[in-house]
Amino acid sequence: MKILVTGSAGFIGFHLTNRLLNEGYEVIGLDNLNNYYDVRLKLDRLRETGIEPSKVAYNEPVRSVKYPNYTFIQLSIENAANLERLFSEHDFSKVCHFAAQAGVRYSLKNPEAYLQSNIVGFFNILEACKHHEIKHLIYASSSSVYGMSKNVPFSEDEKVDQPISLYAATKKSNELMAYTYSHLYSLPTTGLRFFTVYGPWGRPDMAPMIFTNAIMKGEKIKVFNNGDMSRDFTFVGDIIEGVFRIVKTSPKKDYSIYNIGNNKPTNLMQFINILETVLDKKCDKEFFPLQDGDMKVTFADVSKLIKDFNYEPQTPLEDGLNSFVNWYRSYYK
Ligand SMILES: NC(=O)c1ccc[n+]([C@@H]2O[C@H](COP(=O)([O-])OP(=O)(O)OC[C@H]3O[C@@H](n4cnc5c(N)ncnc54)[C@H](O)[C@@H]3O)[C@@H](O)[C@H]2O)c1
Repeated sequence: MKILVTGSAGFIGFHLTNRLLNEGYEVIGLDNLNNYYDVRLKLDRLRETGIEPSKVAYNEPVRSVKYPNYTFIQLSIENAANLERLFSEHDFSKVCHFAAQAGVRYSLKNPEAYLQSNIVGFFNILEACKHHEIKHLIYASSSSVYGMSKNVPFSEDEKVDQPISLYAATKKSNELMAYTYSHLYSLPTTGLRFFTVYGPWGRPDMAPMIFTNAIMKGEKIKVFNNGDMSRDFTFVGDIIEGVFRIVKTSPKKDYSIYNIGNNKPTNLMQFINILETVLDKKCDKEFFPLQDGDMKVTFADVSKLIKDFNYEPQTPLEDGLNSFVNWYRSYYK
């Protein structure tokens, strides 16, 4: 089975690519390697999968020297013609679409990037999947679609039409667009609402990495909403296990949405405490009000995932942060 993974140099796409390759699938990875965060980290993730960074050039396929079943191509999903060519050259069975402009706060600074990658890019992926009769499109949505909902834990049945950031609005739009393509063209689509993913090879713009950097350098860390926030931190290995079970199963319905989260929210101050214990170092804190676009609470109801895939994330935060910090120490020396 040949699978296209978009965003394969990104945090989650990289982990999924690794898992699929180790399970013996043939994978084509795609990423435009944009500079939203340190491009070196993206290139190092590619190197881990046997893609030599010096060989990477726009629209040029590169074969992995580690996995004979892996080829990477640097491509922007906004470019419909190049995407169409890629789909024509490969007979993809399934598409795992994880390329997107991520990040809530950056969507207040650079909203254009979200429209290009998450709306135009997503539309191009849908069109290509339609033309090439893809058997299953699995794509990343986000817990951010729940906005300021107080109905915890968040269930997929809840009506979500009050996104509080443009990022969230693009993810909700993706779910609506996917619904339309499933309905009109019987394209099976599954949207995955991920909840604050962390772990080795994680993103430098997210709290675990920002706080770890600050603690290691002896700098103060910024705590928003005076610490009165909680997140359903989910270990990347658990996310990948959930995604993998969905990828290997034939879709039962044309349109589905699943939460993938830990189902155990952690208060921000408690999170910092655990991180300080894992790093064996205390830090000073500076307190600030809630930032625009930020949710106060995220909390996943995963009963649908358990019912359909007999799976729920289980890694305790202490264990996941230990694994993250071990990677951090070895990667950043
Ligand atoms: N990490 C999380 O906590 C989290 C939570 C909810 C949802 N998500 C979603 O999961 C997906 C993966 O997130 P991630 O944490 O791995 O983010 P990431 O930024 O590490 O990965 C996304 C990758 O997509 C690539 N990309 C962006 N725009 C592109 C474009 N136009 N064309 C081609 N490639 C492009 C980037 O270069 C990047 O490598 C995203 O859709 C994100 O919105 C992530």
